[in-house]
Amino acid sequence: MTTTNQSQNIPFNEAQQAWLGGFFAGMHSHILQSAGSADAANARNISILYGSQTGNSESVAHDAAQVAKAHGLNPSILSMDEIETDAFAQIEYLLIITSTYGEGEMPDNAQMLWETISADDTIDLANMQYSVLALGDTSYDLFCQAGIEWDQRLEKLGAKRLYDRIDCDVDFDASAESWITNIIPLMADGATAITIDSSATGSAAKYGRKNPFPGKLVANRLLTSPDSSKEIRHYEISIAGSELSYEAGDALNVVPVNCPDLSADIIKAIGCTGDEDEPVNGVLMPLSQSLNEHFEIKLPSKELLDEIARRSGDQELNNLLASGDKEKLASYLWGRDTLDLLLQFPEMQFSAAEFLALLKPLQHRAYSISSSGKANPETVHLTIGSVRYHSHHRDHKGVCSTYLADLADETSPVRCFFSPNKVFRVPEDDNLPMIMVGPGTGIAPFRAFLQEREFRKAKGINWLFFGDRNAAKDFIYQDEIEAMQKKGVLAKLDLAFSRDQEEKIYVQDRMREKGGELFALLEQGGYFFVCGDAYRMAKDVDKALHDLIAVHGQLSAEQAAEYVNQMKKDKRYVRDVY
Ligand SMILES: Cc1cc2nc3c(=O)[nH]c(=O)nc-3n(C[C@H](O)[C@H](O)[C@H](O)COP(=O)(O)OP(=O)(O)OC[C@H]3O[C@@H](n4cnc5c(N)ncnc54)[C@H](O)[C@@H]3O)c2cc1C
Ligand SMILES: NC(=O)c1ccc[n+]([C@@H]2O[C@H](COP(=O)([O-])OP(=O)(O)OC[C@H]3O[C@@H](n4cnc5c(N)ncnc54)[C@H](OP(=O)(O)O)[C@@H]3O)[C@@H](O)[C@H]2O)c1
Ligand SMILES: Cc1cc2nc3c(=O)[nH]c(=O)nc-3n(C[C@H](O)[C@H](O)[C@H](O)COP(=O)(O)O)c2cc1C
Repeated sequence: MTTTNQSQNIPFNEAQQAWLGGFFAGMHSHILQSAGSADAANARNISILYGSQTGNSESVAHDAAQVAKAHGLNPSILSMDEIETDAFAQIEYLLIITSTYGEGEMPDNAQMLWETISADDTIDLANMQYSVLALGDTSYDLFCQAGIEWDQRLEKLGAKRLYDRIDCDVDFDASAESWITNIIPLMADGATAITIDSSATGSAAKYGRKNPFPGKLVANRLLTSPDSSKEIRHYEISIAGSELSYEAGDALNVVPVNCPDLSADIIKAIGCTGDEDEPVNGVLMPLSQSLNEHFEIKLPSKELLDEIARRSGDQELNNLLASGDKEKLASYLWGRDTLDLLLQFPEMQFSAAEFLALLKPLQHRAYSISSSGKANPETVHLTIGSVRYHSHHRDHKGVCSTYLADLADETSPVRCFFSPNKVFRVPEDDNLPMIMVGPGTGIAPFRAFLQEREFRKAKGINWLFFGDRNAAKDFIYQDEIEAMQKKGVLAKLDLAFSRDQEEKIYVQDRMREKGGELFALLEQGGYFFVCGDAYRMAKDVDKALHDLIAVHGQLSAEQAAEYVNQMKKDKRYVRDVY
């Protein structure tokens, strides 16, 4: 669950309960009341840098800042892409809070800073005192890798670790709170306390990660053709009355409810009835309700896997777990969910309490918003591929995508909260060109960007690269895209339908074909945006971008890499990939 290299391990159920209860809120007021008073000008500066893709680290950074203020410190919160290397090297008191993305990679907003700091051995951080909080998910092989790398790098460059790193799993609230309450007094040690201006600590927003807004699902329609090999749907969620607003480029996080059929099958498989009352955050509720609403029941946790291996004595599973061969384990688990594992060993029974203790809390899922908040202030549009596949003799469904597709309706609230993405934004200068690469569901934020440019009557060229499997079945939003072309909002459109011919054609092939024109727009200060699949598409698009810059800019590979890096620094090459 939560690992740490100090002795502050938090037992699983305690952490789960803390997560469910959100007890951090109470702690703030306690500390605020106990703060001393003195001159604000003398307060010690501390920098809180966060690397975040969907807002979790950013939200912890704000929690840390509130507690820091209450301890007489003067915190400044910065996203990692908001600080230059020189300024970074001058920091004396530093807190790093970062998640990990991709396969053990930095979140996008941390990448540039990391590349510089990790490459330059001459940086001397002897005057820096620091601590790292790493956010991650134990279901990934490289758990909390980004935080681990920051921690090791800062130490190597001479900085003094003031408090050991804590690596948090998805239920990070309790561990994050523990880290904050330990590190802040150490940072404040010897510092002059200041009067706490309670207005400066900010009143918590009414709705957010800890208190999702109950939105109303007002539209759910199929975008792909009914006979397509995939299912992509358009959703609209009303946020009327929430006082919330969003920008094109932001993400909406949806808190799903599990499929009741799946929880019923699991209850049967473990030998329970579903009526067993067990406490969840101190509230007694039947097992069926906890499984429906509070726990991840599709993807098995490591703890559950270990327990199934131990109880079953199954040689294959035990050997796999003992071998530490993550690739083999991943391939064993591919397409196998918790129920598959339980059905594989039908003799295995669990009490409700035993079983719940082996589960992880149910997580929200992030979705790139496909509408402009200016054009649609009261609704949020989403473009979501429903995850459905058949394996191990059963139909499987992705938790959140099919919660929206099959379960949610106008009568049941869809709990959601926003994650702002400050860099994934339509350029402020309405005259600058915008190049958008978004195959599949990757088109989502670009629908929002086009609406935004139209709303702003922006003159800059908009160029979209889109593709999917078959033009006849998967050209989602075709009518809207063609209307945008007619209105002149979308000046250029390049399509790559991969399965309409023998040889696959992808968006990066279209980019290469139009390399000269694309490079010319980059030279005019154009922005280059990518959204969609992180593992294959985004990597190949990145390679194509480097190649076309080298060819059309007549640059060496190193010079092209520098060109791309400069675009990243200028926030003109930004990605929203998953
Ligand atoms: C910042 C961000 C923005 C995003 N934006 C969008 C968006 O705009 N639109 C969108 O559709 N998604 C988007 N996603 C992805 C989204 O968050 C979810 O991951 C996705 O909807 C799947 O969630 P789920 O709960 O339906 O599936 P889950 O219950 O999480 O199941 C997914 C898991 O099922 C298994 N699986 C999936 N397919 C197969 C298969 N064929 N065979 C075997 N096993 C399989 C894999 O283990 C996979 O990890 C975004 C993600 C991020 C981080
Ligand atoms: N890890 C995986 O194996 C896998 C597979 C599918 C989807 N996903 C996930 O599904 C989500 C996105 O799904 P989606 O339905 O929006 O789109 P998608 O599955 O990414 O497919 C959209 C289009 O991109 C094409 N494509 C495949 N590989 C590509 C590459 N290397 N470069 C450029 N284009 C490529 C697809 O072609 P073809 O399908 O014809 O090759 C298809 O035409 C993401 O979360 C993604 O990570 C993952
Ligand atoms: C596409 C994707 C990839 C991820 N990769 C990793 C990973 O390699 N290692 C890890 O520990 N966590 C991984 N995570 C989990 C995130 O780090 C975790 O959800 C974190 O709380 C996100 O925080 P953020 O909102 O600040 O970005 C991944 C999450 C997603 C959605």
